[in-house]
Amino acid sequence: MGRENLLFQGLTVLVSIICISHAARIMYDVNVVPEHCLKGKAIEANYTPRGAEYEIGNLTVYESQNREAKRVLIAVYDIFGLSTNMKQVVDSIAELYDFRVVMPDFFRGVYWDENNFPPENPEDMANWLNRNGSWDNIVKWDVMSVINSFQTTQNISEVGIFGMCWGGKVATLAATEIPEIKVAGLVHPASVNNSEADGVKAPMYLLPTANEPDMLPFYEVLKQKFGDNCGHRRFDDMFHGFAGARGDFNNPLNVQRVEEVIDILGIFFNKNLNNS
Ligand SMILES: *[C@@H]1O[C@H](CO)[C@@H](O)[C@H](O)[C@H]1NC(C)=O
Ligand SMILES: *[C@@H]1O[C@H](CO)[C@@H](O)[C@H](O)[C@H]1NC(C)=O
Ligand SMILES: *[C@@H]1O[C@H](CO)[C@@H](O)[C@H](O)[C@H]1NC(C)=O
Ligand SMILES: *[C@@H]1O[C@H](CO)[C@@H](O)[C@H](O)[C@H]1NC(C)=O
Repeated sequence: MGRENLLFQGLTVLVSIICISHAARIMYDVNVVPEHCLKGKAIEANYTPRGAEYEIGNLTVYESQNREAKRVLIAVYDIFGLSTNMKQVVDSIAELYDFRVVMPDFFRGVYWDENNFPPENPEDMANWLNRNGSWDNIVKWDVMSVINSFQTTQNISEVGIFGMCWGGKVATLAATEIPEIKVAGLVHPASVNNSEADGVKAPMYLLPTANEPDMLPFYEVLKQKFGDNCGHRRFDDMFHGFAGARGDFNNPLNVQRVEEVIDILGIFFNKNLNNS
């Protein structure tokens, strides 16, 4: 009794903590996805987008080159709009994992100024997002109009969504309020709080960075709903925005992490959306 017993109990607790924290990270994590499943290098420093822009009603969208797939992902950009970085991520997921990926221009060509970030006056940004990025008045209808267009003109009803920063909030709302959304991914999401997990109706993968609040409570709720069909990976060595417009795609570690985001989402979406 005494010391040895305590030591044993301590060890048991330690091992349990390691197992639990490991289990919390592993689903579809590239660290455990078999090597042959990974598609490898995707991100280039000087990229020329391979897709094209066209109109759906009064909404401009960018769509990647791959138009053969029978399933579609809606990509929701960050506040800097249709950036080359976003287009590269979109093109990579489309080409490596065989999706049609479409990125709507919700802000209609007028974006937040990168030179005013972080914003001098955060209230200005909040007001702009509430007005020109309003979920209820603009974005929800745009998302539904994109889905409707693919259903009626392309006969595609397998639809997922992913978003970065502000787009992560949009993806959360879409997975909560739009029943056609079958799967969702959040990449360094902004303004998503843990209590929103309760409303989510589609399997979801969470990819926060060191700058986001802890999303494990959100993930716990997802696990209760979807079991193993959800995931969480925290990029502790990356900053908010690393995979979007402000990511440094000349930096090898940043690039490696973006490729991990692409692989994690590609594998997760592939599992959840039918391609025939
Ligand atoms: C786009 O069209 C929809 C419906 O057709 C309309 O409700 C909306 O106000 C239009 N938006 C803009 C920015 O013109
Ligand atoms: C906000 O949207 C309106 C159209 O509804 C547009 O005229 C205006 O330029 C936009 N403002 C900004 C800052 O994006
Ligand atoms: C639409 O897709 C469904 C299932 O993918 C298929 O069974 C059906 O034949 C298609 N309809 C048309 C008009 O292509
Ligand atoms: C979290 O989000 C919910 C649902 O949108 C909202 O009702 C609540 O006020 C938010 N909580 C915080 C702390 O922001």
